[in-house]
Amino acid sequence: MPVRSFDAPDRASIGYTRERMSTQTIRPARSFQGSVTLPGDKSISHRYAMLAGLAEGTTRLSNFSTGADPHSSLACMEALGAKVVHKADKTIEITGTAGAFNQPAKPLDCGNSGSTMRMLSGLVAPHTHVFTLIGDHSLTLRPMERIRKPLLKMGAKLDLVDGHAPITIYGGPLTAINFDTPIPSAQVKTAVLFAGLQAQGTTSLTESVRTRDHSEHALRAFGATLLRDGDKLSIPGGQKLNAINATVPGDLSSAAFFLCAALLFPDSNLVLDAVGMNPTRASLLDIITALGGGIKVLHVEEQHGELVGTIQVNAPSGGPKGMEISGALSAQVIDELPVLAAIGPYTREGITIRDAKELRVKESDRIALVVKNLRAMGAEVTEFEDGLAVPGGQELHGAQIDSGTDHRIAMAFSVAALRASGDTEIHGAEAAAISFPEFFTLLDMLCQR
Ligand code: S3P
Repeated sequence: MPVRSFDAPDRASIGYTRERMSTQTIRPARSFQGSVTLPGDKSISHRYAMLAGLAEGTTRLSNFSTGADPHSSLACMEALGAKVVHKADKTIEITGTAGAFNQPAKPLDCGNSGSTMRMLSGLVAPHTHVFTLIGDHSLTLRPMERIRKPLLKMGAKLDLVDGHAPITIYGGPLTAINFDTPIPSAQVKTAVLFAGLQAQGTTSLTESVRTRDHSEHALRAFGATLLRDGDKLSIPGGQKLNAINATVPGDLSSAAFFLCAALLFPDSNLVLDAVGMNPTRASLLDIITALGGGIKVLHVEEQHGELVGTIQVNAPSGGPKGMEISGALSAQVIDELPVLAAIGPYTREGITIRDAKELRVKESDRIALVVKNLRAMGAEVTEFEDGLAVPGGQELHGAQIDSGTDHRIAMAFSVAALRASGDTEIHGAEAAAISFPEFFTLLDMLCQR
């Protein structure tokens, strides 16, 4: 099957060409105030798109993520035979394949999305076709051996190129396994659960650190049986799914940028409406509280197993405190670490991050880029293999920021820029659209200048 040709993985060469790059200028702000409803959670959108495509019947989804990544998952589901209709009222209807994927006519393009590539591998592996999964340059540098191992154990054949995409999957009937996830990864867990759902026998899995459990909730919402006994999760194979109607909760990882911005201004007042508050994601709210932020939960309810709430956030008087984020906590807020590090200089005691080596294999080497950009803004920072230490009480100046075409780096430094002296230019700002295309518009709306 034809696939794109790829260079040998080389982190130094990640980057869009000049023609595709856009620069965003961020001016300092005086305060941060307002109320927003955020687009749907990226992680939940991926899972709903994939399970809807496998299910029987038509799933109707409101507030689906506007980010490019979940749309890569939707496009892959279409290529596998699902019918996707974007309605005028912005809902998305997905008519599933009732468990029978097509042989796709061309490679499944996962774009920049590690979630699509890893979770989809588990979803398609039990189908007797040959699937090729490709991605952009950044995705082609990310480790894929982690999903190959369990799927191989289940009987699938997967070819990687030096541990990376493109992935070729020779699918077929799979058998259940018992699997202990060696690295904390919800994506790997999901690949195993999605394959286990369609395997013969009951697959069980234990995690060293409990990662986000959206797959567990989504599987149950679509009608699957899933059992938890302490740390052990079991999924009987041969199960069929049925379509659902659902509203995707607002994305807490997108909210993180605004929550951190709100911490920086003494008179800030931020209200986030209908935001996901799943306990396996909400450690971020504990961190905001530990930094001195006041959080009031104005409303909370459950939708398809997911907690959704309205929260109000106020800044601590005297500025945010500091803290060390390490151990299991680092894994639980892995996507929020860049922005927490970027506001480190403005805290009183600084921010130290350890046990976060996974940051080096995200959409970019996020430790190296956070360090580089903090230094560009004049900050003192120490880099470790598994994290960094940013002393508090520092003043930053506007600078030229390199997003490395990583959405979370572009957004993290836009927040740091709000308290710097002078303007900051974010190069590769278009990357924000991977998870949060409305970011710059909403940031501008919430800033008082
Ligand atoms: C995700 C899990 C995390 C996270 C990613 C989304 C998910 O990755 O960084 O943005 O939706 O399951 P890992 O599970 O690989 O840590």
